[in-house]
Amino acid sequence: MSPNPPSDDELLAAARAARANAHAPYSGFAVGAALATESGEVFVGCNVENASLGLTLCAERVAVAAAVTAGHRRFTAVAVVTGAAHATQPCGACRQFLAEFGTALRVLAAGADGATLETPLAELLPGSFRLDTQP
Ligand code: THU
Repeated sequence: MSPNPPSDDELLAAARAARANAHAPYSGFAVGAALATESGEVFVGCNVENASLGLTLCAERVAVAAAVTAGHRRFTAVAVVTGAAHATQPCGACRQFLAEFGTALRVLAAGADGATLETPLAELLPGSFRLDTQP
């Protein structure tokens, strides 16, 4: 049975909780993400940095990987929480990664000031890349 869909506040709270587990010793910039599935489940991620800096995983991509690993590919919203003064939106790589599963996604972002910014992914990444495998 599907759980009730999370409210935006619940999704933001899940992202905030995940942020507490961020491994960000190099940047000091902890990020948490929470992704809601169409079936009402929530998958979270935090950024995981590495001494080999380019290997760093962003919180959003960790959340997507967790959801896909659990068998989910249809998403309604993602919440991203940082400690920046104002909300920061997903980086370009994460926008493309999220777009793989549809650009109708709602993107909620919150920083330390508590204000929430909502932007559709289609607006954050118009013209996302799609692989055309037809000859
Ligand atoms: N980061 C994310 O986790 N998500 C984003 O959308 C932007 C950046 C992380 C990567 C790195 O660990 C730190 O924030 C600073 O760039």
